Amino acid sequence: MQRLLINAGPIAHLAGEGPITGYVIEEDYVSKSGLAILIEDHIIVRIGPTEEMVSEYSQAEVLDLEGKAVVPGLVDSHTHLLWAGDRSREVSWKQQGMSYAEIAQNGGGIGATVGPTRTTSDSELAHLGIERMREALRNGTTHLEAKSGYGLDTDTELRLLSIAESLSAIERLPSLDLTWLGAHAAPVDCTIDKYFEELLSEQLPAVLEQGIARSADVFCEPGWFSVEQSEDILKASRDGGLDLRIHIDEFVDGGGGELAAELEVTSADHAHYTNLDTRRKMQSAGVNTGFLPGTPYSMGEDYPPFTECLDNEITWSIASDFNPNCHTLSLPFIGSLLVQRNEIPPIIALAACTRNSALTTPHPSGLVHGQIREGAIANLNIVDGPWWQSWCLRPGHSPFAATILEGELIYH
Ligand code: NIG
Ligand code: FE
Repeated sequence: MQRLLINAGPIAHLAGEGPITGYVIEEDYVSKSGLAILIEDHIIVRIGPTEEMVSEYSQAEVLDLEGKAVVPGLVDSHTHLLWAGDRSREVSWKQQGMSYAEIAQNGGGIGATVGPTRTTSDSELAHLGIERMREALRNGTTHLEAKSGYGLDTDTELRLLSIAESLSAIERLPSLDLTWLGAHAAPVDCTIDKYFEELLSEQLPAVLEQGIARSADVFCEPGWFSVEQSEDILKASRDGGLDLRIHIDEFVDGGGGELAAELEVTSADHAHYTNLDTRRKMQSAGVNTGFLPGTPYSMGEDYPPFTECLDNEITWSIASDFNPNCHTLSLPFIGSLLVQRNEIPPIIALAACTRNSALTTPHPSGLVHGQIREGAIANLNIVDGPWWQSWCLRPGHSPFAATILEGELIYH
């Protein structure tokens, strides 16, 4: 089937090879109004002037955008999608000044989510996952990375990955890229050292045999997994064929960035307190920095140094970090934190959750995503108005009138 989107407003297409790093000239990535986009099945096959395209593809089903702006389908490259329970009680602990580590020691944090997750049935977890994927799609996300990590025992970690795999097969929902994060914390009745042994001897081999996860991740932070333990888990995961990601420097500059550079991991996320030398090493090693500004927002803290990273041409992406401590699946809201709180130009913020994030989490079709160009998967958002910049200027509302998901038109 051919679908022709005509009379587009500006298209923030972001087309090109590799990541966008440093400042850019906006006009290089935003086309003028009046273009049409031809979609055949699930692929963008041609972009050209409306008049020409209408006469050439007279058989196509036409959708008149009436000057609405268009941006790529958003790519959320860091989510903790599946868990049950609620952590609202922690807000008063935060307001009393308790740190994340103190909250964990007080019976909150990751450990408080593991219990309800373990006792929730597969069908209920699947239902939660579907609701969350719908919410992400309503906010323009067409693809998500999704981590396990709230099981912390072999059975539940395998269960979470297998439920996520079943969700990824559902049509008219965003696609998923699955990551094993067994090394998220120690279960409450176990030490980190003992659990670390179990991860290597039992859980990782079982995850590899199950064959669902594409990547492995570790929460490398003083108080959780040490740099040495993270190295062992990541190396064993790579030996087993998994791609690597890592959580680093969420609360302090703990050395995880050096490991990320040494192992040339795909993405080192949070990276809030990483020093500039280490950032440069990560850059030379081809490591993407995955900023997660929703988390300091939820914790009432300052933001990572986005502008310093731009000035120093460090490659970065942004993601939601959706989890019980940071309960948002809205990348437009995350974009607003960059643009309206951190002086980042809207085109850079958009690149960070489209073209750049897509490079760390491939689309299952193998096609290019996070960009609007010929040959890419037909994932794009129709902004509810003529200004492409409004994608990140309506926090609390979806800025999108509709999303095209793998060629399918979905109205919001
Ligand atoms: O990336 N910091 C580690 N993991 C999650 C939070 C987990 C939680 O608090 O439940 C994160 O922010
Ligand atoms: Fe995370």
